[in-house]
Amino acid sequence: MIARHVADTVTLNNGIEMPWFGLGVYKAQAGAEVEQAIQYALDAGYRHIDTAALYANEESVGAAIKASGIPRESIFVTTKVWNTDQGYDSTLQAFETSLRKLDMEYVDLYLVHWPIKGKYKDTWRALEQIYKDGRAKAIGVSNFNIHHLNDLMMDSEIVPSVNQVEYHPFLTQEDLHEFCKQHNIQLEAWSPLMRGDLNHPTLVELANKYGKTVAQIVLRWDLQNEVITIPKSVHQARIIENAQIFDFELSSEDMRLISSLNRNHRYGPDPDTF
Ligand SMILES: NC(=O)c1ccc[n+]([C@@H]2O[C@H](COP(=O)([O-])OP(=O)(O)OC[C@H]3O[C@@H](n4cnc5c(N)ncnc54)[C@H](OP(=O)(O)O)[C@@H]3O)[C@@H](O)[C@H]2O)c1
Repeated sequence: MIARHVADTVTLNNGIEMPWFGLGVYKAQAGAEVEQAIQYALDAGYRHIDTAALYANEESVGAAIKASGIPRESIFVTTKVWNTDQGYDSTLQAFETSLRKLDMEYVDLYLVHWPIKGKYKDTWRALEQIYKDGRAKAIGVSNFNIHHLNDLMMDSEIVPSVNQVEYHPFLTQEDLHEFCKQHNIQLEAWSPLMRGDLNHPTLVELANKYGKTVAQIVLRWDLQNEVITIPKSVHQARIIENAQIFDFELSSEDMRLISSLNRNHRYGPDPDTF
């Protein structure tokens, strides 16, 4: 199913509805910058915000959502447990801290930010507890490769609902995507815009062909690949631009052309060596 509207959702493996499209707020400054970005996004119809304890802006995310007057339950909020808080008890504590900063009674999705060796299974047990307590509507992981997922699922009760990984035309992660599909784990793209590196000639050519921007082409490619996407911007014009991807369709030939740009290039750390 391809989303037709900025707030359209996919049903996760536990029945929870998660919008295909959202706003990322990594490196958006706490305070006015992130609050304004969220206001622009909500005005443009976004109903999904992706933050993390690491981003040090959870308080502002919570404040902006409250200030919008939009009911809490209409907005999907993700946050993540940071690496130094991993382990069972420390994750439970980190979750309380995140909830307090967000000033919310629950989050929609709580993620293990990175697969910290020797710790992620204990961290996951804590997420399972949080989920059973109803304080996260869904739980998932981030930056997990196939071997991390296999290892985790061998010793856990709940299959992650989501795996949020670096994903864009230069890093298509096809094996991982296929594995996630087989296990009903929804793939979500971080750094979908290659952190703003949008000058590849093939992408520029496609942008001209469709009368769209490169950012829009790449985000549309995510949706047609059934990958959730959370581009970050703090600028109103770009926040609006990034959401204008529901009024055109890439041909299957152009979808393949974009995928063929893959060169396993990462802008962020590699989960196996970070
Ligand atoms: N789980 C993880 O480990 C992980 C890691 C990284 C990111 N994430 C999440 O994924 C989100 C997105 O990833 P990201 O922030 O790394 O990178 P991104 O979304 O790929 O790119 C963001 C950059 O592109 C610029 N930009 C945005 N829209 C644009 C447009 N239409 N045209 C040109 N440039 C544009 C932004 O600048 P301006 O803001 O100045 O507009 C910013 O510099 C993050 O915010 C975070 O929520 C998760």
